[in-house]
Amino acid sequence: MRPTGSVQFDNSGRVVLVTGGAGGIGLAICQAFAASGATVYAVDVAEPEGELPAKLISGDVSKREECRRVIAQVVEEAGAIDVLVNNAAIQPPASYKAIDELSTETWDKMVAINLSGYAYMAMETAAVMRKQQSGVIVNMASAQAHRTAREVPAYGPIKAANVMQAKQWGVELAREGVRVVSVSPGAVGTPLLRASLAQQGGEESLANRHPLGRIGEPPEIAAAVLWLASEGASFITATDIEVDGGLGAFAAFADPFSVATLPGKNDC
Ligand SMILES: NC(=O)c1ccc[n+]([C@@H]2O[C@H](COP(=O)([O-])OP(=O)(O)OC[C@H]3O[C@@H](n4cnc5c(N)ncnc54)[C@H](O)[C@@H]3O)[C@@H](O)[C@H]2O)c1
Repeated sequence: MRPTGSVQFDNSGRVVLVTGGAGGIGLAICQAFAASGATVYAVDVAEPEGELPAKLISGDVSKREECRRVIAQVVEEAGAIDVLVNNAAIQPPASYKAIDELSTETWDKMVAINLSGYAYMAMETAAVMRKQQSGVIVNMASAQAHRTAREVPAYGPIKAANVMQAKQWGVELAREGVRVVSVSPGAVGTPLLRASLAQQGGEESLANRHPLGRIGEPPEIAAAVLWLASEGASFITATDIEVDGGLGAFAAFADPFSVATLPGKNDC
């Protein structure tokens, strides 16, 4: 077995805020930042799944006043915000519908958390980072931001907006010492994914859609976030990085249509 190389990060003295940090990818990001010496805050509506190496602030990112309260608390306690990871998002099983079957309630909730939540947190944090003349914002997007999938009429388009948010904000803040990037994971083994495995054709089929032949693990996404938030990525802003086991090299995040649906196939 040849050596595969490794990276070690030093985030001593940095203040990091992760939305949705109590579980899944957010928890792995909290763990990685904490292990590298950062002071970590997690904002979440839920209690942590396991041990959380971060201070949990209970808060709902879909509410602007709660975002304001969270940022004020972090600045008051820690004196700065060096990294914001916009990660809290939902993809409920009820969202796997054709567009004409999607409920208004599901659409509104996804927009409120997955889109407005990222914007509210950035609005509050960018003001702090502009004063500091330093900082990094990472938007957790998705492979589904870049390609179609079956029955994701809300999630995919909103994730595409998260990519564009990072590009737009990255340019706006580029001369203020602030970098903004997005990360687009393929399928990653988290509660969000497990809740919709049936809708996505089961674990094996989902793994097979990735050239590396498996679903990703949360620490593999956290590793990309830590690098993007580090000085090693100092020339990277206003762009997206796909961490997807090669999935993006396929044309679509979906199996081909069944031949039974070909035009003329079912004509008598
Ligand atoms: N798991 C995947 O396969 C996958 C793939 C691509 C992108 N993503 C993205 O990665 C991010 C994390 O996904 P995950 O799989 O870890 O999800 P998850 O459901 O496992 O964890 C999300 C966390 O966000 C919290 N949260 C939900 N609503 C919130 C709110 N209004 N305010 C604050 N916190 C809230 C939840 O309580 C939970 O702790 C999301 O942006 C998701 O879209 C996930």
